[in-house]
Amino acid sequence: MSAPSPRSIPGARPIDGRVRTAVVGTGNIARFHAQALLDLPQRAELVAAVDIVPEALNAFRELHAIPNGYTELAEMLTEQRPDLVHVCTPPGAHRTQVEACLAAGASVLVEKPPALSLAETEKMAAAEGGANGPWMATVFQHRFGSGVRRVRALMDSGVLGRPLVAACHTTWFRPQEYFDVPWRGRWETEGGGPTMGHGIHQMDLLLALLGEWTEVSAIARRQARDVETEDLSVARVDFANGAVASVVNSLLSPQEESRIRIDFERATVELVHLYGYGDDDWRITPAPGFEEEVLAAWRAGEHGVNSGHHAQIVQVLDALREGIAPPVTSTDTLNTMRLVAGVYASSFEGRPITPAELGPESAFHDRMGKGRSL
Ligand SMILES: NC(=O)c1ccc[n+]([C@@H]2O[C@H](COP(=O)([O-])OP(=O)(O)OC[C@H]3O[C@@H](n4cnc5c(N)ncnc54)[C@H](O)[C@@H]3O)[C@@H](O)[C@H]2O)c1
Repeated sequence: MSAPSPRSIPGARPIDGRVRTAVVGTGNIARFHAQALLDLPQRAELVAAVDIVPEALNAFRELHAIPNGYTELAEMLTEQRPDLVHVCTPPGAHRTQVEACLAAGASVLVEKPPALSLAETEKMAAAEGGANGPWMATVFQHRFGSGVRRVRALMDSGVLGRPLVAACHTTWFRPQEYFDVPWRGRWETEGGGPTMGHGIHQMDLLLALLGEWTEVSAIARRQARDVETEDLSVARVDFANGAVASVVNSLLSPQEESRIRIDFERATVELVHLYGYGDDDWRITPAPGFEEEVLAAWRAGEHGVNSGHHAQIVQVLDALREGIAPPVTSTDTLNTMRLVAGVYASSFEGRPITPAELGPESAFHDRMGKGRSL
């Protein structure tokens, strides 16, 4: 996972003073971005908002006291010259907007999923600014609670031993009305179903903890909803460190939860939450004989930070101010998108898939499942 320590990066350009920020897309998730920025006045000023729907834009500006509003991203970029743009539009708009921001010299924090395909995400990464230019970071806010950093520290110190088996389950419930929003449930505009749009958070967290994956076998199905994409996927993922994980992404589960569980040689570590977690949502169960050592390390580890947009945005702003790499770099993002593509490729081709098979020659490089029927 991205460590909060300084790194040399493409995109290092320290900012003297407060970061000038703008939000593009003023719907549901944009509120979390705006609130985090308003809660961090020493680090950031929110100078502008952009939305193609004037009523949405005006209501958002009023709610968050944002001085400038635009219905055209290009105009905002020219007039405001922001340091950082928060891209909170539907996924189908991300690629062109991220590229426009980077071309204008602004770094970007883009909502998940970063784009509709691996190919699009690679193009966005290629548009980053090199040695002194702007960069792109992706919102994967569950990497940022103290709980996950505590687990990572215990893993790195060897207290937990080797990871052996894991479960990564995003079992949520979305009724048919949820898909009334025109961009949802369609390959063309959402890029995929719960694998791409919902479980991607937990899958990203799993990769942040277990590292490089080597093979995936999966099924993706439309089981109950009237949508174009899958509403369920079930996968087995192998990791280079020898661990194996079951990954379930469902929008059909009345008892909703987000769960990551990793059985290490010396303890089980488990996180159960829904849309965000605090320290109390983590549980550790030492193996017999390791109680004292494991529990002492667990108690001594980092505490006190809930996962969420605020926790990630603090680090994104600090990265810009210090001229260091943003947390969740484009490389991290591509790793996660590659696993998403692997789930679809395995399901549609009916065989195990390795990351090496997802290059430009793969049909799943350019599109997750668009044009295919389930
Ligand atoms: N990180 C998370 O936990 C999380 C949670 C929910 C949604 N999201 C992601 O956030 C993004 C937005 O989701 P949402 O639920 O806020 O959607 P939404 O439909 O509520 O809001 C999208 C807004 O973007 C505007 N918009 C659409 N096209 C535009 C364009 N070309 N230029 C400017 N504005 C445009 C719309 O008018 C709308 O106001 C999606 O990528 C979604 O997956 C992330």
